[in-house]
Amino acid sequence: MLQVRGLTVSVAGRTILGGVDFHVDRGETVVLFGPNGSGKTSLLKTIIGHPDYRVESGSIVFKGRDITGLPTDERARLGIGIAFQRPPAVRGVRLKDLLQACIEIRGETDGEIIDEYARRLNLEDFLRREINLGFSGGEIKRSELLQLMAQAPDFIMLDEPDSGVDLVSINLVGEVINGMLQKNRRAVKRSRAGMIITHAGYILDYVNADRAYVMLGGAIFCSGNPRDVLADIRAKGYEGCVVCER
Ligand SMILES: Nc1ncnc2c1ncn2[C@@H]1O[C@H](COP(=O)(O)OP(=O)(O)OP(=O)(O)O)[C@@H](O)[C@H]1O
Ligand SMILES: [Mg+2]
Repeated sequence: MLQVRGLTVSVAGRTILGGVDFHVDRGETVVLFGPNGSGKTSLLKTIIGHPDYRVESGSIVFKGRDITGLPTDERARLGIGIAFQRPPAVRGVRLKDLLQACIEIRGETDGEIIDEYARRLNLEDFLRREINLGFSGGEIKRSELLQLMAQAPDFIMLDEPDSGVDLVSINLVGEVINGMLQKNRRAVKRSRAGMIITHAGYILDYVNADRAYVMLGGAIFCSGNPRDVLADIRAKGYEGCVVCER
């Protein structure tokens, strides 16, 4: 579904990603670990085509098509979606109006589906509010997921969906992510794939991941079984990654 090769990216004149290589297959969920400032969010923003992130070399191929130079809206239409680590608030636009626009773009005419999505994330009371304005940290995380549900992308990128989410809400978040990633089907029957950034790995108690990547200093350093990689990082820190022979 996604193939990233030799991706080198600069922002504000400074190189922040240096030759990133990885892939995500249809049906898969991959996890991205890495210390603060290693470039995880920058990688996701580059994949969605954020204009601040300039691709110096390398390529991003999505469903067989090179999207490296495409604007963000075209990438979204092709089926890439993102839940941001720290999304902006959008003053003057009600959450429900954005969700309505999203479902209309994909030809969904039943407006009640929005209430159903909101109910699943316990966000019914937020639909009439301006997007993310004054939302708490955990509410913002759920609002981002709600927007993804309405967009229904094939490739779902989640930047720290578990950070700041309380123990009850994380259950809802896990259920919604599993639903979006079609976890009730066998991998070969799924049409979607996902990429999740997590520090503590809480979300992995709710969502099964197939492979983990570790990012260090702006490049993918290794990959492995998510639980083993997380256990190693917990035991030895990221310094341990440098000497690990995985
Ligand atoms: N728009 C920008 N302007 C200047 N520097 C930036 C910008 N975006 C990212 N950077 C820098 O690039 C580096 C990588 O940042 P990024 O947000 O990708 O890290 P991260 O791995 O997501 O970290 P965290 O785990 O803290 O979220 C950091 O040093 C950051 O300050
Ligand atoms: Mg980040």
